[in-house]
Amino acid sequence: MIKKIKRIPKAIVHRGKILLEKMRGLDFTQHHMVDELGFSDDMAKAYAPSPIEDLKMILSELDIQPTDAILDYGSGKGFAMVIMNNFNFNFVGGVELSKRLTKICRTNFSKLGIKNVGVFQCNAIEFKEIDRFNYFYLFNPFPEIVLKAVLQNIQESIEKHPRKIIFIYVCARHKEIVSDHPMFEEIREIKGKDWESVIYSNEFKK
Ligand SMILES: C[S@@+](CC[C@H](N)C(=O)[O-])C[C@H]1O[C@@H](n2cnc3c(N)ncnc32)[C@H](O)[C@@H]1O
Repeated sequence: MIKKIKRIPKAIVHRGKILLEKMRGLDFTQHHMVDELGFSDDMAKAYAPSPIEDLKMILSELDIQPTDAILDYGSGKGFAMVIMNNFNFNFVGGVELSKRLTKICRTNFSKLGIKNVGVFQCNAIEFKEIDRFNYFYLFNPFPEIVLKAVLQNIQESIEKHPRKIIFIYVCARHKEIVSDHPMFEEIREIKGKDWESVIYSNEFKK
Protein backbone atom coordinates (compact mmCIF):
# COMPACT_ATOMS: atom_id res chain seq x y z
CA MET A 1 0.00 0.00 0.00
CA ILE A 2 1.31 3.45 -0.95
CA LYS A 3 1.63 5.62 2.11
CA LYS A 4 0.06 9.04 1.86
CA ILE A 5 2.71 11.74 1.78
CA LYS A 6 1.74 14.38 4.30
CA ARG A 7 1.79 17.99 3.11
CA ILE A 8 4.91 19.87 4.11
CA PRO A 9 3.87 22.87 6.25
CA LYS A 10 4.13 26.21 4.41
CA ALA A 11 6.48 27.68 7.03
CA ILE A 12 9.01 24.88 6.42
CA VAL A 13 8.84 25.33 2.63
CA HIS A 14 9.32 29.07 3.17
CA ARG A 15 12.38 28.57 5.39
CA GLY A 16 13.79 26.03 2.95
CA LYS A 17 13.48 28.52 0.09
CA ILE A 18 15.29 31.20 2.12
CA LEU A 19 18.10 28.76 2.90
CA LEU A 20 18.49 27.61 -0.71
CA GLU A 21 18.60 31.21 -1.90
CA LYS A 22 21.22 32.07 0.73
CA MET A 23 23.42 29.23 -0.53
CA ARG A 24 23.32 30.84 -4.00
CA GLY A 25 23.98 34.36 -2.65
CA LEU A 26 20.38 35.35 -3.40
CA ASP A 27 17.62 36.85 -1.25
CA PHE A 28 14.08 37.21 -2.57
CA THR A 29 11.86 35.26 -0.19
CA GLN A 30 12.55 36.70 3.28
CA HIS A 31 9.67 39.06 4.17
CA HIS A 32 10.17 42.40 5.99
CA MET A 33 7.66 44.35 8.02
CA VAL A 34 7.26 48.10 7.44
CA ASP A 35 8.87 49.13 10.78
CA GLU A 36 11.78 46.77 10.17
CA LEU A 37 12.49 48.78 7.00
CA GLY A 38 12.32 52.04 8.98
CA PHE A 39 9.02 53.25 7.53
CA SER A 40 5.55 53.91 8.89
CA ASP A 41 2.22 52.40 7.79
CA ASP A 42 1.04 55.67 6.30
CA MET A 43 3.96 55.82 3.83
CA ALA A 44 4.67 52.20 2.83
CA LYS A 45 3.58 48.57 2.97
CA ALA A 46 5.66 45.57 3.93
CA TYR A 47 8.01 43.61 1.67
CA ALA A 48 6.99 40.23 0.27
CA PRO A 49 7.79 38.84 -3.18
CA SER A 50 5.03 38.61 -5.79
CA PRO A 51 2.99 35.41 -6.04
CA ILE A 52 4.86 33.76 -8.89
CA GLU A 53 1.97 31.74 -10.37
CA ASP A 54 -0.37 34.74 -10.42
CA LEU A 55 2.25 37.01 -11.98
CA LYS A 56 3.20 34.52 -14.70
CA MET A 57 -0.44 33.85 -15.49
CA ILE A 58 -1.27 37.57 -15.78
CA LEU A 59 1.75 38.39 -17.96
CA SER A 60 1.24 35.42 -20.25
CA GLU A 61 -2.31 36.57 -20.99
CA LEU A 62 -1.26 40.08 -22.02
CA ASP A 63 -0.23 40.96 -25.55
CA ILE A 64 3.30 42.11 -24.66
CA GLN A 65 5.27 43.59 -27.55
CA PRO A 66 9.07 44.03 -27.84
CA THR A 67 8.55 47.82 -27.73
CA ASP A 68 6.81 47.69 -24.33
CA ALA A 69 8.39 48.74 -21.04
CA ILE A 70 7.14 47.86 -17.57
CA LEU A 71 7.72 49.59 -14.23
CA ASP A 72 7.38 47.67 -10.97
CA TYR A 73 6.17 50.21 -8.39
CA GLY A 74 7.71 49.12 -5.07
CA SER A 75 10.15 46.68 -6.63
CA GLY A 76 11.63 45.38 -3.35
CA LYS A 77 14.28 42.72 -3.90
CA GLY A 78 13.47 42.48 -7.61
CA PHE A 79 11.58 39.19 -7.64
CA ALA A 80 8.75 40.39 -9.91
CA MET A 81 11.32 42.12 -12.16
CA VAL A 82 13.17 38.81 -12.64
CA ILE A 83 9.91 37.18 -13.80
CA MET A 84 9.06 40.16 -16.03
CA ASN A 85 12.50 39.92 -17.61
CA ASN A 86 11.54 36.50 -19.01
CA PHE A 87 8.73 38.11 -21.01
CA ASN A 88 9.01 40.11 -24.19
CA PHE A 89 9.60 43.55 -22.63
CA ASN A 90 12.05 46.00 -24.15
CA PHE A 91 12.87 47.27 -20.64
CA VAL A 92 11.99 46.33 -17.07
CA GLY A 93 12.24 49.09 -14.45
CA GLY A 94 11.62 49.25 -10.74
CA VAL A 95 11.30 51.96 -8.12
CA GLU A 96 11.89 51.14 -4.47
CA LEU A 97 11.79 53.29 -1.33
CA SER A 98 14.13 51.19 0.81
CA LYS A 99 17.90 51.58 0.33
CA ARG A 100 18.45 48.22 2.00
CA LEU A 101 16.06 46.36 -0.34
CA THR A 102 17.47 48.15 -3.40
CA LYS A 103 20.96 46.98 -2.47
CA ILE A 104 19.72 43.39 -2.09
CA CYS A 105 17.89 43.72 -5.42
CA ARG A 106 21.04 44.85 -7.25
CA THR A 107 23.03 41.97 -5.71
CA ASN A 108 20.32 39.52 -6.85
CA PHE A 109 20.49 40.85 -10.43
CA SER A 110 24.25 40.71 -10.48
CA LYS A 111 24.30 37.10 -9.14
CA LEU A 112 21.78 36.08 -11.80
CA GLY A 113 23.57 38.02 -14.56
CA ILE A 114 20.45 40.06 -15.33
CA LYS A 115 21.29 43.21 -17.24
CA ASN A 116 18.41 44.77 -19.16
CA VAL A 117 16.74 46.14 -16.03
CA GLY A 118 17.04 49.32 -13.96
CA VAL A 119 16.10 49.94 -10.37
CA PHE A 120 15.68 53.46 -8.97
CA GLN A 121 15.88 54.05 -5.25
CA CYS A 122 13.39 56.73 -4.22
CA ASN A 123 9.85 57.34 -3.07
CA ALA A 124 7.46 56.43 -5.90
CA ILE A 125 5.67 59.75 -5.31
CA GLU A 126 8.80 61.60 -6.40
CA PHE A 127 9.67 59.32 -9.29
CA LYS A 128 8.51 61.16 -12.43
CA GLU A 129 10.72 59.52 -15.07
CA ILE A 130 7.85 57.34 -16.21
CA ASP A 131 7.20 58.48 -19.79
CA ARG A 132 9.06 55.50 -21.26
CA PHE A 133 6.76 52.99 -19.52
CA ASN A 134 3.42 51.74 -20.86
CA TYR A 135 2.94 48.93 -18.31
CA PHE A 136 2.79 49.59 -14.57
CA TYR A 137 2.80 46.78 -12.02
CA LEU A 138 1.90 46.97 -8.35
CA PHE A 139 1.90 44.15 -5.83
CA ASN A 140 0.11 45.93 -3.00
CA PRO A 141 3.01 48.32 -2.31
CA PHE A 142 1.27 51.50 -1.22
CA PRO A 143 -1.16 52.94 1.27
CA GLU A 144 -3.95 55.08 -0.20
CA ILE A 145 -2.16 58.44 -0.14
CA VAL A 146 0.84 57.11 -2.10
CA LEU A 147 -1.37 55.26 -4.58
CA LYS A 148 -3.30 58.48 -5.29
CA ALA A 149 -0.08 60.45 -5.87
CA VAL A 150 1.27 57.75 -8.20
CA LEU A 151 -1.96 57.78 -10.23
CA GLN A 152 -1.59 61.56 -10.53
CA ASN A 153 1.99 61.10 -11.84
CA ILE A 154 0.77 58.58 -14.44
CA GLN A 155 -2.02 60.93 -15.52
CA GLU A 156 0.44 63.82 -15.98
CA SER A 157 2.73 61.53 -17.98
CA ILE A 158 -0.15 60.46 -20.26
CA GLU A 159 -1.12 64.09 -20.81
CA LYS A 160 2.45 64.89 -21.88
CA HIS A 161 2.90 61.69 -23.91
CA PRO A 162 -0.46 60.18 -24.86
CA ARG A 163 -0.22 56.38 -24.99
CA LYS A 164 -2.04 53.23 -24.05
CA ILE A 165 -1.32 52.16 -20.47
CA ILE A 166 -1.84 48.79 -18.83
CA PHE A 167 -2.00 49.04 -15.03
CA ILE A 168 -1.69 45.71 -13.22
CA TYR A 169 -2.73 45.75 -9.57
CA VAL A 170 -2.05 42.47 -7.77
CA CYS A 171 -3.51 41.99 -4.29
CA ALA A 172 -5.62 45.05 -5.03
CA ARG A 173 -6.28 46.24 -1.47
CA HIS A 174 -7.25 49.76 -2.54
CA LYS A 175 -8.83 48.92 -5.86
CA GLU A 176 -11.67 51.45 -5.34
CA ILE A 177 -9.10 54.26 -5.68
CA VAL A 178 -8.03 53.02 -9.11
CA SER A 179 -11.55 52.01 -10.21
CA ASP A 180 -12.90 55.47 -9.27
CA HIS A 181 -10.10 57.28 -11.06
CA PRO A 182 -11.38 58.88 -14.30
CA MET A 183 -8.24 57.89 -16.22
CA PHE A 184 -8.71 54.12 -16.00
CA GLU A 185 -11.32 51.54 -16.68
CA GLU A 186 -11.20 48.01 -15.39
CA ILE A 187 -10.53 45.52 -18.16
CA ARG A 188 -10.18 42.32 -16.12
CA GLU A 189 -10.50 41.01 -12.64
CA ILE A 190 -8.50 37.88 -11.89
CA LYS A 191 -8.96 35.53 -8.99
CA GLY A 192 -5.43 34.18 -8.73
CA LYS A 193 -4.09 31.36 -6.61
CA ASP A 194 -3.23 33.74 -3.79
CA TRP A 195 -4.81 37.13 -4.43
CA GLU A 196 -7.41 39.03 -6.32
CA SER A 197 -5.88 41.17 -9.04
CA VAL A 198 -7.29 43.81 -11.34
CA ILE A 199 -6.03 45.01 -14.71
CA TYR A 200 -6.91 48.52 -15.85
CA SER A 201 -6.32 50.49 -19.02
CA ASN A 202 -6.94 54.03 -20.21
CA GLU A 203 -9.07 54.85 -23.18
CA PHE A 204 -6.34 55.60 -25.62
CA LYS A 205 -7.29 56.75 -29.09
CA LYS A 206 -4.73 57.73 -31.72
C1 LIG B 1 4.77 43.80 -1.48
S1 LIG B 1 6.38 44.39 -1.84
C2 LIG B 1 6.47 44.03 -3.58
C3 LIG B 1 7.85 43.66 -4.06
C4 LIG B 1 8.00 43.43 -5.55
N1 LIG B 1 7.21 44.32 -6.34
C5 LIG B 1 7.62 42.03 -5.93
O1 LIG B 1 6.48 41.89 -6.36
O2 LIG B 1 8.41 41.09 -5.79
C6 LIG B 1 6.07 46.15 -1.79
C7 LIG B 1 7.31 47.01 -1.89
O3 LIG B 1 6.93 48.38 -2.06
C8 LIG B 1 7.92 49.19 -1.42
N2 LIG B 1 7.35 50.53 -1.20
C9 LIG B 1 6.45 50.88 -0.26
N3 LIG B 1 6.18 52.18 -0.32
C10 LIG B 1 6.94 52.70 -1.33
C11 LIG B 1 7.09 54.01 -1.87
N4 LIG B 1 6.40 55.06 -1.39
N5 LIG B 1 7.92 54.16 -2.93
C12 LIG B 1 8.62 53.09 -3.43
N6 LIG B 1 8.53 51.83 -2.93
C13 LIG B 1 7.69 51.64 -1.90
C14 LIG B 1 8.21 48.41 -0.14
O4 LIG B 1 9.44 48.81 0.45
C15 LIG B 1 8.22 46.97 -0.66
O5 LIG B 1 9.49 46.58 -1.06
